[in-house]
Amino acid sequence: MILVTGGAGFIGSNFVLDWLENGATGDEPVVNLDALTYAGNLRNLAALQDDPRHIFVRGDICDRALVDQLLAQHRPRAIVHFAAESHVDRSIHGPGEFMRTNVQGTFTLLESARAHWTALPEAERAAFRFHHVSTDEVYGSLKSGAPAFTETHPYEPNSPYSASKAASDHLVRAWHHTYGLPVVTTNCSNNYGPFHFPEKLIPLMIVNALAGKPLPVYGDGQQIRDWLYVKDHCSGIRAVLQGGRLGETYNIGGWNEQANIDIVKTICALLDELRPDPAGPYARLITHVTDRPGHDRRYAIDARKIERELGWRPAETFDSGIRKTVQWYLDHADWVAEVQSGGYREWVEKNYATRTT
Ligand code: NAD
Ligand code: TYD
Repeated sequence: MILVTGGAGFIGSNFVLDWLENGATGDEPVVNLDALTYAGNLRNLAALQDDPRHIFVRGDICDRALVDQLLAQHRPRAIVHFAAESHVDRSIHGPGEFMRTNVQGTFTLLESARAHWTALPEAERAAFRFHHVSTDEVYGSLKSGAPAFTETHPYEPNSPYSASKAASDHLVRAWHHTYGLPVVTTNCSNNYGPFHFPEKLIPLMIVNALAGKPLPVYGDGQQIRDWLYVKDHCSGIRAVLQGGRLGETYNIGGWNEQANIDIVKTICALLDELRPDPAGPYARLITHVTDRPGHDRRYAIDARKIERELGWRPAETFDSGIRKTVQWYLDHADWVAEVQSGGYREWVEKNYATRTT
């Protein structure tokens, strides 16, 4: 049994599905603790409805009593901590929730995990893991031509989001050094793939293009991100959870640096091929808009440590991953419509009201 937090979000739901669907882990059950904020969508996990290996608990990681109770009841061998506020633009408009969930929430989980772990019998104590899922954004922005982020790059977070994630990384590190809590941390680059909420660049561009709406590129569009297909992130987390050295951090990335404008053009070209628009090429919709305040210019991950120590490399190239992703959005117009109408939230309320944990 493992406890996943934030398992109804984009990466968390892909992780839970991978964990249970691919049998990669020998059918080990998952307790999924998620508050179902706007970013949480139980529809992502519809394939697991009525699957006894998936126990969904709606709740807040800041709720110490709940986390204590879940650890006591289910005795997970590991916590894989995804739950977070994750959108930079939202953090600029309202940083408070980022501090609460990302900092206070991680602190609460660490304290609960520490109390639980301390009281475990020796063998279980030795096997226990707290896996903290973090981002490359904690390292700040790279100049053009500078080497990619390694695990020893200084922390220089620039947005409220990345500052809150950096704070949580520091807490996790300290709980290992001070209390010996068996932690591992992964810092991953930008993910893309199925179930990505259409407020982030790639899904936003796909759904806007299909709706004939403008494709809003911030500033000159020359900002660079290092994109990784979400299922490769999931396999990287599994590798670190299984073999990562305690107290270590591992960068996970796709070796795929791309300027935003090129990403948008690639999406347009794929849509021109897969769902041509009689009105003309989708690139006609590209619109440059005012830049994001404090916008980081470039992220790039040096993922050699995880490859060297654990043999992990991404399975997808960007070409194969972005094609799968665009096709997924074309095939899941119902998912998109429900997210855009807010219908998934009503469904969650209705569905959840009849369930107990
Ligand atoms: P997401 O916003 O799609 O999902 C976050 C999930 O956490 C949602 O299901 C939400 O309901 C849940 N949640 C939020 N606050 C909560 C709380 N207080 N208690 C319980 N659950 C709560 O995020 P994501 O893109 O899936 O990212 C998951 C993790 O991976 C985050 O920690 C993020 O920092 C990290 N990460 C994301 C990326 C990326 O490209 N998306 C890259 C690297 C690392
Ligand atoms: P985003 O998906 O929000 O991820 P992050 O900010 O965490 O990297 O944005 C990816 C890049 O795309 C980032 O440089 C901001 C840019 N962007 C746009 O140009 N237009 C948009 O509408 C959005 C949402 C993002």
